[in-house]
Amino acid sequence: MRSIIDIADLSVAELDELMDHAQQMIADPASVADLHAHHQLATLFFEPSTRTRLSFESAMYALGGSVVSMSSAANSSTSKGETLADTIRVVSNYVDVIAMRHFAEGSALVAARASGVPVINAGDGGHFHPTQTLADVLTIQRAHAQLGGQRIVVVGDLLYGRTVHSLVRCLARYEGNSFVFVSPQELRMPAGFLQRELASRGIPYEETSDFAGAIRGADVLYMTRIQRERFADIDTYHRLAGSFILTPKLMESASEEMIVLHPLPRVDEISPAVDADPRAKYFEETFNGKMMRMALIDFLVKDAQASPRKDPRPELEEACTLSDVSCTNRLCITQQERELQPLFIQHDESVRCAYCEAPVQAAVPVRA
Ligand code: NCD
Repeated sequence: MRSIIDIADLSVAELDELMDHAQQMIADPASVADLHAHHQLATLFFEPSTRTRLSFESAMYALGGSVVSMSSAANSSTSKGETLADTIRVVSNYVDVIAMRHFAEGSALVAARASGVPVINAGDGGHFHPTQTLADVLTIQRAHAQLGGQRIVVVGDLLYGRTVHSLVRCLARYEGNSFVFVSPQELRMPAGFLQRELASRGIPYEETSDFAGAIRGADVLYMTRIQRERFADIDTYHRLAGSFILTPKLMESASEEMIVLHPLPRVDEISPAVDADPRAKYFEETFNGKMMRMALIDFLVKDAQASPRKDPRPELEEACTLSDVSCTNRLCITQQERELQPLFIQHDESVRCAYCEAPVQAAVPVRA
């Protein structure tokens, strides 16, 4: 039994398989209309969402399945003090697969470790959002017939943008890709992430504030909004909002083949006048996202029928505790749920939280 916490939980071959299946379903939706008639999906959304939750639900109905849904943390027993792991243990006795969005980073891992059925991470704080990446890659594949050999320009909130983190991790696995990151200084890509995912593997990237220059060489322009809800201080948000706005004028300097993606919701970073440009693919992407979620649900439910439950991160058995150290990321699940044992992963010289991957200044590790 598999869960999808991170896009890297799927191999490149499995990603190809999902894209092929999605394309088949696009060509012939009736062929899968009863495929999961006896299966049920739970959508547990502890953080607001419209499109992602509706997209999962609509995907499950299109497979003939049914859905139970929780759309806000206020209605759940976590508001009575129940732990996330307990909530998941209960819900996994009702359904065949769970899609969960939660405000805490690392929450998807906690859920997947507690669950008796596959868990799909539909966004854990600013950490990861693998199913948005599935929508992104199918959109790139349909437009450019390949996922490698692309110059990918990523713009906006690169610090908190979970869709960005998942997308970069995914596309870094394909030959010939290079990345350009355009953001306000305060919202740059996390340095450790760049080092691990790109620099250490010799994948070319640059960081710049020259938005117009970056657009000129782009094959894929990935726009994101500044994530207002992740700021501790709202004045900083107001200062940074509106830093980079895509306009028809800027689109004039882009290549004819370049495509514009955006996970949505848009705030003001793409002028509505760009929508009519055939290179603007962000609304088509929402359709592709539904089709990829159908392919993923099918893949996970079949996998769970065929293979027994196992820990989604067996390597955590080897993770270490650190005496008197806890993760200092205020958005980490270990900060919200104090009874969770903090776990750390040591890699070369650096130590990271096993849940949210934030770097930790640490002394000598002690085995769990
Ligand atoms: C994104 C998310 O929730 O991270 N939206 C989505 O899933 N469609 C992007 C965002 O909220 O900015």
